Amino acid sequence: MNDEIKKGLLGIVVDETTVSQVMPDINSLTYRGYAVQDLCEKCIFEEVAYLVLNGELPNKSQLNKFKKELDKNRNITINLREIIKHMPKKSHPMDVARTAVSVMGLEDKETNNNSSEANMRKAIRIFAKTPTAIAAFFRARKGKNVIPPKKNLSFSENFFHMCFGKVPKKEIVKAFDVSLILYAEHSFNVSTFTARTITSSLSDIHGAITGAIASLKGPLHGGANEEVMRMMNKIKKPENANKWINNSLDKKEVVMGFGHRVYKSGDSRVPTMKKYFKKVAEITKDKKFHKIYDIVEKVMIERKNIHPNVDYPTGPTYHLMGFDTDFFTPIFVISRITGWSAHIMEQHKANKLIRPLSKYSGEKYRKVLLLNQR
Ligand code: SDX
Repeated sequence: MNDEIKKGLLGIVVDETTVSQVMPDINSLTYRGYAVQDLCEKCIFEEVAYLVLNGELPNKSQLNKFKKELDKNRNITINLREIIKHMPKKSHPMDVARTAVSVMGLEDKETNNNSSEANMRKAIRIFAKTPTAIAAFFRARKGKNVIPPKKNLSFSENFFHMCFGKVPKKEIVKAFDVSLILYAEHSFNVSTFTARTITSSLSDIHGAITGAIASLKGPLHGGANEEVMRMMNKIKKPENANKWINNSLDKKEVVMGFGHRVYKSGDSRVPTMKKYFKKVAEITKDKKFHKIYDIVEKVMIERKNIHPNVDYPTGPTYHLMGFDTDFFTPIFVISRITGWSAHIMEQHKANKLIRPLSKYSGEKYRKVLLLNQR
């Protein structure tokens, strides 16, 4: 038996996937064979969600049917809405999202049916309802009325509508849509691997997504987009940025929104997201964040040769759109549900229990002494 330890499963290939391909060498990411930057320019998020879930881009009638299916499933139960309203206002919205999906599992009639057909139906329900649950908490914790979803609005428009009671300019909606497309899927990242591990015991999709949300919350994973904003808020103004980031590197601190386990010369999603961040900064007449962005990025590359990951541009983009900082990672969730679901279904189709080994480094074999002898 080979007992060499690969901490963090560094460089280990654990299974096959047909959902996406991350190609660090040519700095490319494809979903089902399509380059993400191409999808961002030519598709809306619903088309990409359909692609990730089903393996093919939809034609017009398939897309209309999918949109209708989402419309039909967007409402959450009164029970779940009341639970969300009564959650402690200080709860992190990621914990609310996690609990909401868990409650959806209690309410779903097919929770224990793991057939591919039932899993697809449940995936669509979770995908449609989770933004409604997150938006409900966005408003409820501020003492505002909960706004129900509206028929015939797109996925992104609906999220703005449920959070703010209005839909912003189409350029802002497009930038949000692009961020969702870029966040939809990224192979065996921590949360997806968590979802696949949970699934490998033949557990259910609600449980797997609940676990994936908990995993995504961490600042080394999805939680980084919130930390980026906290960092930019600490920097405060462009004039402080150079000194701030150099100090941080001198102190050997980890700079959020930079670095990646797979990409070493830049995350392939960043150029697209950066372009849309700059557009949003222009529309919202931002005077500081786009400048801080450039300064920190330049120093990180010059001093450390460490490039930004996708959480670096999404953080300030969501801020300029008006979202509270602790809602950034829940926005990541509403998109990544598609990738998680596709992987959960793939895992079910060719399942093998995920159960690695460990090398024991604890106490040597010893005898148990009775309580009065210890
Ligand atoms: C996501 O995997 C995915 O696909 C994830 C994701 C997705 O779509 O699902 O892309 C989304 O999670 C993006 C990553 C978000 N996280 C952050 O932005 C947190 C900051 N980044 C780092 O902590 C780090 O880069 C990781 C966690 C992302 C990657 O960690 P690794 O591969 O375990 O590498 P490491 O932490 O061991 O770093 C290697 C070296 C170290 O220096 P040395 O000890 O070798 O001298 O690079 C340095 C690190 O100190 N380094 C950083 C750094 N990232 C790496 N130094 C300062 N700031 C950083 N951000």
